[in-house]
Amino acid sequence: MSNIIVTPSYRDHRGIGLIQLNRPNVLNALNTETLVDIVETLESWSDIRAVIITGSDKAFSAGADIKKMAEASAMDQLLDQREKLWKRFSMIRYPIIAAVNGFCLGGGHELAMSCDLIIAGDKAKFGQPEINIGTVPGAGGTQRFTKAMGKSKAMYYALTGEMINAAEARELGLVAKVVPASTLMQETFVVAKRIASKSPVASSLIKESINQSFEMSLSQGLMLERRNFYLTFASDDQKEGMNAFLEKRTPDYKGN
Ligand code: CAA
Repeated sequence: MSNIIVTPSYRDHRGIGLIQLNRPNVLNALNTETLVDIVETLESWSDIRAVIITGSDKAFSAGADIKKMAEASAMDQLLDQREKLWKRFSMIRYPIIAAVNGFCLGGGHELAMSCDLIIAGDKAKFGQPEINIGTVPGAGGTQRFTKAMGKSKAMYYALTGEMINAAEARELGLVAKVVPASTLMQETFVVAKRIASKSPVASSLIKESINQSFEMSLSQGLMLERRNFYLTFASDDQKEGMNAFLEKRTPDYKGN
């Protein structure tokens, strides 16, 4: 069985790619092979305008594969390609939405937080439970968690290993939207279609500007934002968007 099920341009949804984690026996635990499959798939798409990554009703992903990790040495971890894979994931230019039902824990939660936004079913459960198995988050859990909700809450959840329900996750700013679990994919496609209908040039520059806000000072971030704003004026999409507005018609963006 393959680790992921891939559907480019899912059904009638032009330009939307779907990646579904497919390791049901281990609640979609993330081994290195699965991460390779995700990253290589994302890198292979050229005409995609938005991607949805999802799991099953029971689990988005229950984290790194504990069966694989249990006997690993520090050198095994150091020499594994996961670090490079996470970096490659962060270089993807088009928007990636995590559609989360069920458990979204540890490395699974880190995968969801590495996406650009999270839409959650109302039964979803989030958390960094590594403390329960004698280790610590290793793929952004302490960093992105803290940036999403601040120090005290991040400390609380990472030190206790307690899970966060969907309503709390929305209040904490971890997720953008909570919807009934049974309509998660439908609602996520509505959002993905809306994003896919916009200029891909603009969406990739927005993605870059927002993600870089975590890496830069305010003045550096404002500078990057201004440069990206100017850069859109080199695109046909900016002309198309503004002309369509003036001509009172729907824009048709080509992504250049
Ligand atoms: N890795 C490997 N296998 C896992 C797994 C994981 N992360 N999570 C669950 N499984 C397996 C279970 O071992 C079980 O397998 P068997 O049927 O062969 O026994 C199967 O999936 C179903 O799991 P449960 O029977 O435990 O299901 P449950 O509904 O009773 O509990 C759960 C669900 C609360 C999510 C529980 O499975 C659990 O606590 N999982 C581990 C969560 C965790 O600690 N994640 C962090 C991993 S470390 C990490 O991610 C490091 C990092 O930052 C990179």
